[in-house]
Amino acid sequence: MAQMTLDRREFFKTPIFSVTLPQLLPMQSEYIADVMRMVDSGETLDSDRYEGLQTEATLFERQESHWRMLHDAFVKLCEAIEKDERERGGQLRREFKFVRAACWAYIQTADTGKTDFHTHLPNRWSAVYYLKIPSDMPDLEGGTAFDDPRQPVTNDEVVVKFGEGEMCIFPSWLRHAPVPSPSTHETRITLAMDALYLPAQ
Ligand SMILES: [Fe+2]
Repeated sequence: MAQMTLDRREFFKTPIFSVTLPQLLPMQSEYIADVMRMVDSGETLDSDRYEGLQTEATLFERQESHWRMLHDAFVKLCEAIEKDERERGGQLRREFKFVRAACWAYIQTADTGKTDFHTHLPNRWSAVYYLKIPSDMPDLEGGTAFDDPRQPVTNDEVVVKFGEGEMCIFPSWLRHAPVPSPSTHETRITLAMDALYLPAQ
């Protein structure tokens, strides 16, 4: 039998974007106060997906200016990424139109266990805004873990740590999970966001 040679080429890369939003930093205390008021009044969900405490995904329905600013910043970034990625993809890439965005808060304490990897499908872009990040979390505690779903080919898992005021944006199909933070007595608060797009007609 003739010897066969497998030609291995890699085609698909996965971008994870991050950005610092200094215009939102002066309002950190307002975001945190709103989130903690929701927690205190029981506006939280029991979720199979998350171990920690999660608010209802209604934060972008609020009319206060700080929530409008976060919404607008997120949508603007998604639109810029969408345009740039389409240009990179060339003519074959379909055009998608933004439909709506949703936002909720995730509160993690030292007692919060490990959350399973999950996606945010059928959304197109998802983001985490790091609202309150304890400074005493060692190593990769409190980071965000990403897991390539194309296993067993890649077997790739990475943990990225972001700081307060940073936003991370990634494709909604990318599996991810917050990393527990058992060493800190402080609370880790993040805002999760989804942007739904549909193919343009
Ligand atoms: Fe998530």
